[in-house]
Amino acid sequence: MKSRRAISLHAHHLPWNSAGNLADNDLTADDVVRETGWVFNNETGDELTLKTFVETGDKEVQRYIRLLQLESFRFEDSTLLEIGSGIGRMTSSFTNRCNAVIAADVDSAFLERCRQTVARFGRIDRLSTLHVADGKTLGRHDDSVDMTFSYITLQHCQPQDALSLVSEAIRVTRSGGLVVLNFRTWVRSDIALVPLGIAVRRLWKMPILGRRLARWRWSTRLGWQANRLKPDIVLENFKSQLSDIKVFHSVKRKMSVADALNKTLKTVPTKRINPSHWWLVAQVS
Ligand SMILES: C[S@@+](CC[C@H](N)C(=O)[O-])C[C@H]1O[C@@H](n2cnc3c(N)ncnc32)[C@H](O)[C@@H]1O
Repeated sequence: MKSRRAISLHAHHLPWNSAGNLADNDLTADDVVRETGWVFNNETGDELTLKTFVETGDKEVQRYIRLLQLESFRFEDSTLLEIGSGIGRMTSSFTNRCNAVIAADVDSAFLERCRQTVARFGRIDRLSTLHVADGKTLGRHDDSVDMTFSYITLQHCQPQDALSLVSEAIRVTRSGGLVVLNFRTWVRSDIALVPLGIAVRRLWKMPILGRRLARWRWSTRLGWQANRLKPDIVLENFKSQLSDIKVFHSVKRKMSVADALNKTLKTVPTKRINPSHWWLVAQVS
């Protein structure tokens, strides 16, 4: 499967490109999950298989459809774009539900593997892929999809890239369609984690050693979260283009959002959402 592929020089793309390099070879799909699966669902072990990996994605798709109140969305008639599809953990499930799915990712080898995953567990006839080579723009026409979805991906982008991807999600989603986007915001442990992350990303830029470091689990997990975005920051940039805005967050924490006070949006405390996460669910105006 070895192919010539463009590797980004941005430090925050390095762990993905490193895992992508491991996936860009003749390993079996189960081996790829054993080698790189932890970058998607944090699970490690010799017993892992692609099948169990995809089952975790299917469960999460079901869970978030319920938690984010998306049951009435007509997935079966819709085109869904997934930003940060990885090797297709959730994508297979989306192809089984939607009319068409576009899997978008910064790493091209992941997209190849995503096609193989969907061929086994989903509907390959409904899948197309989109390489986000610059990590911030989506090469799609305006108004060309019904929903743009993203899970545990925007937190891994530089803040300006994450905001650019939100803008792109709104641009490619048709008027009346939905954006369903997951973000990470501040928690107490960030007092230590954020500076450590910055230091680790600097180390990744070192010649030779840096690339090796970006493959190690401890270093990846410290350095890969490149931003914390509060709802107010995202909304001040995009609320004029959205309606029926909901911010879902964990019941375990308070989430203050300026626009909730003047009732231009709803905050929805929800069980089983990670306390460091929040979701923007909104209609494109
Ligand atoms: C933690 S994984 C999550 C993958 C998938 N959403 C899942 O839950 O299994 C993050 C994914 O985002 C991709 N990614 C990171 N930065 C990106 C960017 N700027 N644009 C598109 N994809 C990106 C990575 O390559 C990786 O596949």
